[in-house]
Amino acid sequence: MSIFAVGDLHLSLSLPKPMDVFGGEWEGYVEKIRLGFASAGIAAEDTVVLCGDISWAMNIREALEDFRFIDALPGKKIFLKGNHDYWFETAAKTRRFFEENSLAGFAILNNNHYEIETDAGLVAVCGTRGWLNPETGTGKLTDEEIALNIKVSAREVIRLENSLKSASDHSAKTGVSFAETLCFLHYPPVLGSDANSEMIAVLHKYGIRRCYFGHVHGKHKKLAPRSPVGGISYSLVSADNINFTPVRVI
Ligand SMILES: [Fe+2]
Ligand SMILES: [Fe+2]
Repeated sequence: MSIFAVGDLHLSLSLPKPMDVFGGEWEGYVEKIRLGFASAGIAAEDTVVLCGDISWAMNIREALEDFRFIDALPGKKIFLKGNHDYWFETAAKTRRFFEENSLAGFAILNNNHYEIETDAGLVAVCGTRGWLNPETGTGKLTDEEIALNIKVSAREVIRLENSLKSASDHSAKTGVSFAETLCFLHYPPVLGSDANSEMIAVLHKYGIRRCYFGHVHGKHKKLAPRSPVGGISYSLVSADNINFTPVRVI
């Protein structure tokens, strides 16, 4: 079985939202996603990690049409939350909604991990939404904004550690060893000369070698790392950056 990643589908099937304002590549993007999944070589038993910004819906009922579209695409899906996923309630409520609507191939990455048997061996899938460097941003941040960002970032660092620890604890308890532990985030821990050092410290603590993230669009794409930083390779998989075609991770 294989693992694929794609972020930022930004679906809005129940309430059409013009995405072409974000750039010409978004014109006809729903069809591009359908074609991208079809051409990526994803088998039904493969897994696709959706790295956040999945739907513009403001509540989970409104997102159902987007979920049905995603469900019809090949592969099982692991969701993680992006900054635009306002539909996401608690993980428990979201899982219940998936169950009630027979979305059996959907799973949520939230303080947990998944184990997937691949051709390279058993792989742990970990991750969370993440956060950028809390002390920087576009424009000058006020002290209040920085204080809030530091709080949000600290919470995300804990969630990342919970997910990675879940995999390593399971391994220690059962003796199962992973060929690799992969990390999926929405926000990039590294972007240009900016970095979230606390998030990166956790990645190093758990020996992560590959990290996949979304969130970054348009002119900011060029800030995504092109080669490993501190021994970790960071790959930008926002849909518009990968021609709406999920990237094969393993
Ligand atoms: Fe985002
Ligand atoms: Fe996005």
